[in-house]
Amino acid sequence: MKKMSLVLLVMVIAATAGVAYAQDHAYVGASKCKMCHKVQFASWEQTVHAKALDAAKGSTDPAYDAATCTACHATNNDEAMAGVQCESCHGPGADYKKMSIMKDGEKAAANGLIIPSQDTCNGCHKDDGHSKTVDKAAELNNTAAMHEFKNPPGE
Ligand code: HEC
Ligand code: HEC
Ligand code: HEC
Ligand code: HEC
Repeated sequence: MKKMSLVLLVMVIAATAGVAYAQDHAYVGASKCKMCHKVQFASWEQTVHAKALDAAKGSTDPAYDAATCTACHATNNDEAMAGVQCESCHGPGADYKKMSIMKDGEKAAANGLIIPSQDTCNGCHKDDGHSKTVDKAAELNNTAAMHEFKNPPGE
């Protein structure tokens, strides 16, 4: 009984969870960011975010269910986009990933690039009995969860 109510709770949460970006930009996947952001990619691969889908799939309580879990354990609610990839935090990249746009911060933002805020984290980290809230500023140097920076924030 207790188990069932936890599953129901997670399902209710999932209905409002994840990060919803405007659908006018398409997702491309982390491998497309890799060629220009090697430092961030190599370190991201080692994080719990990158491995989040495997963790959910291995779970029995709550039991894995793609429709529910991919809201936060995958990217764009898509099981084929495993884990919390770059675009879960930085926005779908089809329109900003071109060099001519990326090198200009304003143009990149206009084409969907997000510099993650506390709200970005809150989309998946809720105080709901399953996940806990996180303090973005306090986690920036937590290499178990966050990638390494080439230009560290605030410097
Ligand atoms: C063709 C190369 C290229 C690709 C592909 C690319 N980027 Fe970039 N990106 C850059 C350059 C150049 C900059 C600006 C200088 C820097 O930060 O290295 C940049 C900057 C950024 C920034 C920092 C912006 C700022 O204003 O601080 C983020 C975040 C970012 N890219 C994310 C991504 C993500 C996510 C992807 C994949 C969807 C991606 N990039 C794909 C070249 C690229
Ligand atoms: C609202 C977003 C959200 C949904 C929906 C969600 N999770 Fe999670 N899950 C998280 C977050 C965030 C964490 C990190 C734990 C924390 O915050 O302390 C987590 C942690 C976990 C962990 C622990 C991972 C570890 O390495 O210890 C497991 C297992 C897990 N979730 C399984 C699931 C399963 C299975 C589902 C679907 C039934 C699910 N989650 C749905 C956000 C979510
Ligand atoms: C798309 C959903 C999503 C977003 C957005 C997200 N996370 Fe997570 N985060 C997760 C999931 C799922 C886990 C659990 C991964 C696992 O252990 O398998 C997790 C785990 C973590 C952990 C390790 C567990 C813990 O609670 O200590 C930290 C720290 C963390 N995230 C910080 C952040 C920060 C900071 C941000 C915002 C910059 C953020 N996350 C954005 C889904 C997300
Ligand atoms: C869990 C959320 C999260 C994920 C996943 C994530 N990032 Fe970031 N990223 C951040 C945060 C937070 C910052 C710092 C934002 C700030 O300036 O406060 C950042 C900053 C950056 C920057 C600018 C700083 C620098 O290193 O030069 C780049 C570029 C970047 N990320 C690329 C990527 C790429 C590429 C991926 C995927 C391989 C990725 N990020 C995945 C949260 C994330």
